[in-house]
Amino acid sequence: MPRPVLRTSLCDMLGIEYPVILAGMGPVAGGISGPVATAPLVAAVSNAGGLGVIGGAGFGAERLREEINTVRSMTDKPFGVDLLLPSNFMGGAASGEMPPDPRDLIPKETYEGLKRVAEEVGIPWQQAPRPASTATAPRRRSGGMSDEQMEVVIEEKVAVFASGLGSPAPWMERLKANGTKVLSLVGNVKNAKRVAGIGADAVVAQGTEAGGHTGRIATMALVPQVIDAVSPTPVIAAGGIADGRGLAASLAMGAIGVWCGTAFLVSEEANQPEMQKQRVLAATDEDTKITRLYSGKTMRNITNPLIEAYEASGIKALPMGIQGMLIQDLIYSARQAGREDLLMNAAGQASGMLKNIRPAASILHDMVNEAAAILGRDLQQRVTAVPEA
Ligand SMILES: Cc1cc2nc3c(=O)[nH]c(=O)nc-3n(C[C@H](O)[C@H](O)[C@H](O)COP(=O)(O)O)c2cc1C
Repeated sequence: MPRPVLRTSLCDMLGIEYPVILAGMGPVAGGISGPVATAPLVAAVSNAGGLGVIGGAGFGAERLREEINTVRSMTDKPFGVDLLLPSNFMGGAASGEMPPDPRDLIPKETYEGLKRVAEEVGIPWQQAPRPASTATAPRRRSGGMSDEQMEVVIEEKVAVFASGLGSPAPWMERLKANGTKVLSLVGNVKNAKRVAGIGADAVVAQGTEAGGHTGRIATMALVPQVIDAVSPTPVIAAGGIADGRGLAASLAMGAIGVWCGTAFLVSEEANQPEMQKQRVLAATDEDTKITRLYSGKTMRNITNPLIEAYEASGIKALPMGIQGMLIQDLIYSARQAGREDLLMNAAGQASGMLKNIRPAASILHDMVNEAAAILGRDLQQRVTAVPEA
Protein backbone atom coordinates (compact mmCIF):
# COMPACT_ATOMS: atom_id res chain seq x y z
CA MET A 1 0.00 0.00 0.00
CA PRO A 2 1.41 3.46 -0.83
CA ARG A 3 2.22 5.50 2.25
CA PRO A 4 0.63 8.91 2.72
CA VAL A 5 2.88 11.89 2.06
CA LEU A 6 2.99 14.75 4.55
CA ARG A 7 6.22 16.74 4.76
CA THR A 8 7.20 19.98 6.43
CA SER A 9 10.49 21.62 7.29
CA LEU A 10 10.45 19.66 10.58
CA CYS A 11 11.01 16.49 8.55
CA ASP A 12 14.15 17.99 7.04
CA MET A 13 15.36 19.38 10.36
CA LEU A 14 15.06 16.03 12.18
CA GLY A 15 15.50 13.55 9.32
CA ILE A 16 12.02 12.03 9.74
CA GLU A 17 9.20 11.18 7.33
CA TYR A 18 6.20 12.75 9.10
CA PRO A 19 5.96 15.92 11.21
CA VAL A 20 4.68 14.10 14.31
CA ILE A 21 6.65 13.77 17.53
CA LEU A 22 5.86 11.45 20.41
CA ALA A 23 5.94 13.54 23.61
CA GLY A 24 8.64 12.36 26.02
CA MET A 25 6.25 11.17 28.69
CA GLY A 26 7.63 10.46 32.14
CA PRO A 27 6.25 8.25 34.93
CA VAL A 28 2.65 7.96 36.10
CA ALA A 29 0.99 5.89 38.85
CA GLY A 30 3.51 6.80 41.54
CA GLY A 31 6.47 6.06 39.26
CA ILE A 32 6.84 2.40 40.12
CA SER A 33 6.84 1.13 36.54
CA GLY A 34 9.00 3.92 35.09
CA PRO A 35 8.22 6.40 32.32
CA VAL A 36 5.39 5.97 29.80
CA ALA A 37 7.60 6.66 26.78
CA THR A 38 10.22 3.91 26.94
CA ALA A 39 12.11 2.05 24.22
CA PRO A 40 9.23 0.00 22.70
CA LEU A 41 7.02 3.07 22.18
CA VAL A 42 9.88 5.35 21.14
CA ALA A 43 11.18 2.87 18.56
CA ALA A 44 7.65 2.13 17.27
CA VAL A 45 7.01 5.82 16.57
CA SER A 46 10.42 6.37 14.96
CA ASN A 47 10.10 3.22 12.85
CA ALA A 48 6.66 4.39 11.69
CA GLY A 49 8.11 7.67 10.38
CA GLY A 50 7.60 10.05 13.31
CA LEU A 51 10.09 10.96 16.04
CA GLY A 52 10.03 8.88 19.21
CA VAL A 53 11.20 10.63 22.38
CA ILE A 54 12.22 8.86 25.59
CA GLY A 55 10.54 10.22 28.74
CA GLY A 56 13.86 10.49 30.53
CA ALA A 57 12.46 12.18 33.64
CA GLY A 58 11.78 8.86 35.32
CA PHE A 59 15.25 7.43 34.83
CA GLY A 60 18.47 7.84 36.76
CA ALA A 61 21.49 8.70 34.61
CA GLU A 62 22.80 5.19 33.97
CA ARG A 63 19.32 3.78 33.45
CA LEU A 64 18.77 6.52 30.87
CA ARG A 65 21.93 5.47 29.03
CA GLU A 66 20.65 1.87 28.93
CA GLU A 67 17.33 3.01 27.52
CA ILE A 68 19.06 5.04 24.80
CA ASN A 69 21.02 1.96 23.82
CA THR A 70 17.89 -0.21 23.85
CA VAL A 71 16.19 2.19 21.44
CA ARG A 72 19.31 2.05 19.24
CA SER A 73 18.96 -1.73 19.14
CA MET A 74 15.32 -1.41 17.99
CA THR A 75 15.61 1.27 15.30
CA ASP A 76 18.19 2.98 13.14
CA LYS A 77 15.92 6.04 12.83
CA PRO A 78 16.42 9.29 14.78
CA PHE A 79 14.88 9.61 18.24
CA GLY A 80 15.09 12.00 21.16
CA VAL A 81 15.31 12.30 24.94
CA ASP A 82 13.08 14.56 27.05
CA LEU A 83 14.09 15.73 30.52
CA LEU A 84 12.56 18.06 33.07
CA LEU A 85 14.93 20.86 34.04
CA PRO A 86 12.85 22.66 36.67
CA SER A 87 14.37 25.83 38.08
CA ASN A 88 12.64 25.51 41.44
CA PHE A 89 13.30 21.84 42.19
CA MET A 90 13.57 21.47 45.98
CA GLY A 91 12.62 25.08 46.51
CA GLY A 92 14.68 26.94 44.00
CA ALA A 93 18.31 27.44 44.86
CA ALA A 94 20.79 25.83 42.54
CA SER A 95 23.01 25.04 45.47
CA GLY A 96 22.90 25.16 49.26
CA GLU A 97 22.74 22.89 52.26
CA MET A 98 19.87 20.43 52.62
CA PRO A 99 18.66 19.62 56.13
CA PRO A 100 19.75 16.17 57.38
CA ASP A 101 16.35 14.76 56.45
CA PRO A 102 14.76 16.56 53.47
CA ARG A 103 11.34 15.73 54.89
CA ASP A 104 12.06 18.39 57.52
CA LEU A 105 11.28 20.90 54.76
CA ILE A 106 7.62 19.85 54.98
CA PRO A 107 5.51 22.10 57.24
CA LYS A 108 3.69 20.06 59.90
CA GLU A 109 0.31 21.66 59.20
CA THR A 110 0.59 20.71 55.51
CA TYR A 111 1.32 17.10 56.42
CA GLU A 112 -1.60 17.05 58.87
CA GLY A 113 -3.86 18.58 56.21
CA LEU A 114 -2.99 15.78 53.86
CA LYS A 115 -3.91 13.22 56.52
CA ARG A 116 -7.36 14.81 56.72
CA VAL A 117 -7.71 14.61 52.93
CA ALA A 118 -6.85 10.89 53.09
CA GLU A 119 -9.49 10.38 55.78
CA GLU A 120 -12.07 12.16 53.63
CA VAL A 121 -11.55 9.75 50.75
CA GLY A 122 -11.47 6.75 53.08
CA ILE A 123 -7.78 5.81 52.97
CA PRO A 124 -6.32 4.59 56.31
CA TRP A 125 -3.09 6.59 56.88
CA GLN A 126 0.14 4.64 56.81
CA GLN A 127 3.74 5.80 56.86
CA ALA A 128 5.82 4.61 53.94
CA PRO A 129 8.99 2.77 54.99
CA ARG A 130 11.87 5.27 55.03
CA PRO A 131 15.05 4.44 53.13
CA ALA A 132 17.91 4.47 55.67
CA SER A 133 19.97 6.84 53.51
CA THR A 134 17.64 9.84 53.98
CA ALA A 135 18.64 10.17 57.63
CA THR A 136 22.29 10.88 56.88
CA ALA A 137 24.50 13.94 56.80
CA PRO A 138 23.57 17.18 54.98
CA ARG A 139 23.54 16.91 51.20
CA ARG A 140 24.19 19.59 48.63
CA ARG A 141 21.00 20.79 47.06
CA SER A 142 21.10 20.52 43.28
CA GLY A 143 18.79 20.70 40.28
CA GLY A 144 17.61 17.16 41.00
CA MET A 145 18.92 14.47 38.75
CA SER A 146 19.03 16.69 35.72
CA ASP A 147 22.76 17.51 35.77
CA GLU A 148 23.75 13.85 35.60
CA GLN A 149 21.03 12.99 33.10
CA MET A 150 22.19 15.84 30.86
CA GLU A 151 25.74 14.48 30.90
CA VAL A 152 24.38 11.21 29.49
CA VAL A 153 22.42 13.04 26.78
CA ILE A 154 25.61 14.83 25.78
CA GLU A 155 27.90 11.79 25.98
CA GLU A 156 25.48 9.67 23.96
CA LYS A 157 25.13 12.41 21.32
CA VAL A 158 21.38 11.87 20.95
CA ALA A 159 19.82 13.32 17.79
CA VAL A 160 17.19 15.40 19.58
CA PHE A 161 16.94 16.81 23.11
CA ALA A 162 13.68 18.21 24.47
CA SER A 163 13.45 20.19 27.69
CA GLY A 164 10.05 19.71 29.30
CA LEU A 165 10.33 22.29 32.05
CA GLY A 166 12.96 24.95 32.55
CA SER A 167 15.80 26.08 30.34
CA PRO A 168 18.48 24.04 28.54
CA ALA A 169 20.73 27.15 28.43
CA PRO A 170 23.61 25.76 30.54
CA TRP A 171 24.05 22.83 28.13
CA MET A 172 23.26 24.55 24.84
CA GLU A 173 26.81 24.96 23.57
CA ARG A 174 27.72 21.33 24.13
CA LEU A 175 24.44 20.06 22.64
CA LYS A 176 24.96 22.19 19.54
CA ALA A 177 28.57 21.02 19.23
CA ASN A 178 27.23 17.44 19.04
CA GLY A 179 24.73 18.37 16.34
CA THR A 180 21.83 17.64 18.72
CA LYS A 181 18.63 19.50 17.79
CA VAL A 182 17.11 21.21 20.83
CA LEU A 183 13.36 21.51 21.33
CA SER A 184 11.97 23.41 24.27
CA LEU A 185 8.44 23.17 25.68
CA VAL A 186 6.70 26.37 26.74
CA GLY A 187 3.20 27.36 27.77
CA ASN A 188 3.35 31.11 27.18
CA VAL A 189 4.90 33.75 24.94
CA LYS A 190 7.35 34.98 27.60
CA ASN A 191 9.04 31.59 27.94
CA ALA A 192 8.89 31.04 24.18
CA LYS A 193 10.96 34.19 23.65
CA ARG A 194 13.37 33.10 26.37
CA VAL A 195 14.12 29.68 24.82
CA ALA A 196 14.23 31.03 21.27
CA GLY A 197 16.68 33.63 22.53
CA ILE A 198 19.11 30.98 23.78
CA GLY A 199 19.04 29.16 20.43
CA ALA A 200 16.45 26.38 20.67
CA ASP A 201 16.05 24.85 17.19
CA ALA A 202 12.27 24.78 17.64
CA VAL A 203 9.83 25.90 20.31
CA VAL A 204 7.08 23.49 21.34
CA ALA A 205 4.05 25.63 22.21
CA GLN A 206 1.99 23.51 24.56
CA GLY A 207 -1.58 24.55 25.32
CA THR A 208 -3.43 23.97 28.56
CA GLU A 209 -5.37 21.07 27.02
CA ALA A 210 -2.25 18.96 27.34
CA GLY A 211 -1.79 16.04 29.67
CA GLY A 212 0.94 16.31 32.31
CA HIS A 213 2.49 19.61 33.40
CA THR A 214 0.67 22.37 31.66
CA GLY A 215 0.00 26.09 31.57
CA ARG A 216 -3.07 28.27 31.29
CA ILE A 217 -3.32 29.26 27.62
CA ALA A 218 -5.21 27.15 25.10
CA THR A 219 -3.39 25.73 22.07
CA MET A 220 -5.53 27.61 19.53
CA ALA A 221 -4.66 30.96 21.12
CA LEU A 222 -1.08 30.10 22.08
CA VAL A 223 0.38 28.70 18.86
CA PRO A 224 -0.16 31.77 16.61
CA GLN A 225 1.08 34.11 19.34
CA VAL A 226 4.22 32.05 19.87
CA ILE A 227 4.81 31.85 16.12
CA ASP A 228 4.63 35.64 15.86
CA ALA A 229 6.82 36.14 18.91
CA VAL A 230 9.71 33.83 18.01
CA SER A 231 9.84 34.01 14.20
CA PRO A 232 12.04 32.86 12.45
CA THR A 233 12.46 30.10 15.05
CA PRO A 234 9.97 27.39 14.02
CA VAL A 235 7.14 26.29 16.29
CA ILE A 236 5.70 22.85 17.00
CA ALA A 237 2.12 22.69 18.35
CA ALA A 238 1.14 20.60 21.39
CA GLY A 239 -1.88 20.11 23.62
CA GLY A 240 -5.12 18.48 22.54
CA ILE A 241 -3.80 17.16 19.22
CA ALA A 242 -4.79 13.52 18.84
CA ASP A 243 -5.94 13.00 15.27
CA GLY A 244 -5.50 14.23 11.71
CA ARG A 245 -7.82 17.18 12.26
CA GLY A 246 -5.59 18.53 15.03
CA LEU A 247 -2.48 17.91 12.95
CA ALA A 248 -3.96 19.66 9.87
CA ALA A 249 -5.18 22.59 12.01
CA SER A 250 -1.74 22.98 13.58
CA LEU A 251 -0.04 23.08 10.19
CA ALA A 252 -2.70 25.56 8.98
CA MET A 253 -1.86 27.81 11.94
CA GLY A 254 1.77 27.84 10.88
CA ALA A 255 3.28 25.18 13.12
CA ILE A 256 5.85 22.92 11.42
CA GLY A 257 4.66 19.81 13.25
CA VAL A 258 2.97 18.45 16.36
CA TRP A 259 4.10 16.98 19.69
CA CYS A 260 1.54 14.45 20.98
CA GLY A 261 1.28 12.70 24.33
CA THR A 262 -2.28 11.71 25.13
CA ALA A 263 -2.88 10.16 21.69
CA PHE A 264 -0.12 7.62 22.40
CA LEU A 265 -1.17 6.91 25.99
CA VAL A 266 -3.52 4.27 24.64
CA SER A 267 -0.95 2.69 22.34
CA GLU A 268 -0.10 -0.95 22.93
CA GLU A 269 3.53 0.02 23.50
CA ALA A 270 2.87 2.72 26.15
CA ASN A 271 4.46 1.70 29.44
CA GLN A 272 1.42 2.34 31.58
CA PRO A 273 -0.77 0.13 33.77
CA GLU A 274 -3.67 -1.35 31.78
CA MET A 275 -6.13 0.14 34.27
CA GLN A 276 -4.82 3.63 33.51
CA LYS A 277 -5.15 3.09 29.76
CA GLN A 278 -8.76 2.04 30.36
CA ARG A 279 -9.38 5.16 32.46
CA VAL A 280 -8.09 7.32 29.59
CA LEU A 281 -10.39 5.47 27.16
CA ALA A 282 -13.36 5.86 29.49
CA ALA A 283 -12.75 9.59 30.06
CA THR A 284 -14.96 12.20 28.45
CA ASP A 285 -13.87 15.71 27.45
CA GLU A 286 -14.72 16.87 31.01
CA ASP A 287 -12.90 14.22 33.02
CA THR A 288 -9.46 15.80 33.38
CA LYS A 289 -8.41 18.32 36.02
CA ILE A 290 -5.32 20.39 36.70
CA THR A 291 -3.79 19.79 40.13
CA ARG A 292 -0.53 20.45 41.96
CA LEU A 293 -1.09 17.37 44.15
CA TYR A 294 1.37 15.00 42.52
CA SER A 295 4.37 17.16 41.66
CA GLY A 296 3.89 20.64 43.12
CA LYS A 297 3.44 22.06 39.61
CA THR A 298 0.19 22.34 37.68
CA MET A 299 -0.44 18.97 36.04
CA ARG A 300 -3.46 17.75 34.06
CA ASN A 301 -4.75 14.33 35.13
CA ILE A 302 -7.77 12.11 34.75
CA THR A 303 -9.51 13.34 37.85
CA ASN A 304 -10.26 11.19 40.89
CA PRO A 305 -11.71 11.65 44.41
CA LEU A 306 -8.27 12.38 45.90
CA ILE A 307 -7.60 15.21 43.45
CA GLU A 308 -11.06 16.62 44.11
CA ALA A 309 -10.59 16.49 47.91
CA TYR A 310 -7.05 17.94 47.75
CA GLU A 311 -8.12 20.84 45.54
CA ALA A 312 -11.11 21.55 47.81
CA SER A 313 -8.85 21.50 50.92
CA GLY A 314 -6.93 24.61 49.87
CA ILE A 315 -3.63 23.02 50.98
CA LYS A 316 -0.80 25.00 49.42
CA ALA A 317 1.46 22.85 47.27
CA LEU A 318 5.19 22.74 48.02
CA PRO A 319 7.89 23.17 45.36
CA MET A 320 8.60 20.34 42.93
CA GLY A 321 10.64 17.65 44.65
CA ILE A 322 9.43 18.51 48.15
CA GLN A 323 5.79 17.94 47.15
CA GLY A 324 6.84 14.44 46.09
CA MET A 325 8.18 13.81 49.61
CA LEU A 326 5.06 15.31 51.15
CA ILE A 327 2.75 12.92 49.34
CA GLN A 328 4.96 9.86 49.79
CA ASP A 329 2.89 8.59 52.72
CA LEU A 330 -0.38 9.49 51.03
CA ILE A 331 0.51 7.54 47.88
CA TYR A 332 1.77 4.64 49.97
CA SER A 333 -1.51 4.63 51.91
CA ALA A 334 -3.54 4.69 48.69
CA ARG A 335 -1.58 1.72 47.36
CA GLN A 336 -1.94 -0.22 50.61
CA ALA A 337 -5.69 0.40 50.43
CA GLY A 338 -5.77 -0.99 46.88
CA ARG A 339 -6.79 2.43 45.52
CA GLU A 340 -4.74 2.47 42.31
CA ASP A 341 -7.43 4.77 40.90
CA LEU A 342 -6.09 7.57 43.11
CA LEU A 343 -2.57 7.51 41.66
CA MET A 344 -1.25 10.00 39.12
CA ASN A 345 -2.91 9.35 35.73
CA ALA A 346 -1.69 12.29 33.66
CA ALA A 347 -3.72 12.74 30.48
CA GLY A 348 -5.05 15.57 28.36
CA GLN A 349 -8.46 16.80 27.29
CA ALA A 350 -8.10 14.82 24.06
CA SER A 351 -8.71 11.66 26.13
CA GLY A 352 -12.38 11.95 25.20
CA MET A 353 -11.46 11.37 21.53
CA LEU A 354 -9.67 8.08 22.06
CA LYS A 355 -11.62 4.93 21.32
CA ASN A 356 -9.34 1.91 21.53
CA ILE A 357 -5.92 0.53 22.34
CA ARG A 358 -3.84 -0.12 19.23
CA PRO A 359 -0.25 -0.11 18.00
CA ALA A 360 1.51 3.26 17.97
CA ALA A 361 2.23 2.87 14.26
CA SER A 362 -1.49 2.65 13.56
CA ILE A 363 -2.20 5.80 15.63
CA LEU A 364 0.51 7.70 13.74
CA HIS A 365 -0.56 6.38 10.34
CA ASP A 366 -4.23 7.36 10.82
CA MET A 367 -3.27 10.81 12.08
CA VAL A 368 -1.02 11.49 9.10
CA ASN A 369 -3.41 9.98 6.57
CA GLU A 370 -6.35 12.01 7.86
CA ALA A 371 -4.32 15.24 7.87
CA ALA A 372 -3.04 14.57 4.35
CA ALA A 373 -6.64 14.03 3.17
CA ILE A 374 -7.84 17.25 4.84
CA LEU A 375 -5.00 19.38 3.54
CA GLY A 376 -4.77 17.77 0.10
CA ARG A 377 -8.42 17.24 -0.83
CA ASP A 378 -11.20 17.63 1.74
CA LEU A 379 -10.73 21.32 2.49
CA GLN A 380 -10.97 22.19 -1.19
CA GLN A 381 -14.33 20.38 -1.31
CA ARG A 382 -15.75 21.97 1.83
CA VAL A 383 -14.36 25.50 1.68
CA THR A 384 -14.29 28.06 -1.07
CA ALA A 385 -11.39 30.38 -0.45
CA VAL A 386 -9.84 32.95 -2.73
CA PRO A 387 -7.63 35.59 -1.09
CA GLU A 388 -7.81 39.08 -2.56
CA ALA A 389 -5.42 39.64 -5.42
C1 LIG B 1 1.40 10.70 31.07
C2 LIG B 1 2.13 11.95 30.65
C3 LIG B 1 3.42 12.16 31.12
C4 LIG B 1 4.11 13.30 30.71
N1 LIG B 1 5.40 13.46 31.13
C5 LIG B 1 6.14 14.46 30.62
C6 LIG B 1 7.54 14.57 30.92
O1 LIG B 1 8.09 13.78 31.67
N2 LIG B 1 8.23 15.57 30.33
C7 LIG B 1 7.63 16.46 29.47
O2 LIG B 1 8.29 17.32 28.91
N3 LIG B 1 6.30 16.42 29.22
C8 LIG B 1 5.56 15.42 29.75
N4 LIG B 1 4.25 15.35 29.45
C9 LIG B 1 3.64 16.37 28.57
C10 LIG B 1 3.89 16.02 27.13
O3 LIG B 1 5.26 16.23 26.84
C11 LIG B 1 3.09 16.83 26.12
O4 LIG B 1 3.44 18.19 26.16
C12 LIG B 1 1.58 16.70 26.23
O5 LIG B 1 1.22 15.36 26.42
C13 LIG B 1 0.94 17.26 24.96
O6 LIG B 1 -0.44 17.37 25.07
P1 LIG B 1 -1.45 16.14 24.78
O7 LIG B 1 -1.34 15.27 25.97
O8 LIG B 1 -2.77 16.80 24.66
O9 LIG B 1 -0.99 15.47 23.51
C14 LIG B 1 3.51 14.24 29.85
C15 LIG B 1 2.20 14.02 29.41
C16 LIG B 1 1.51 12.89 29.79
C17 LIG B 1 0.12 12.69 29.26
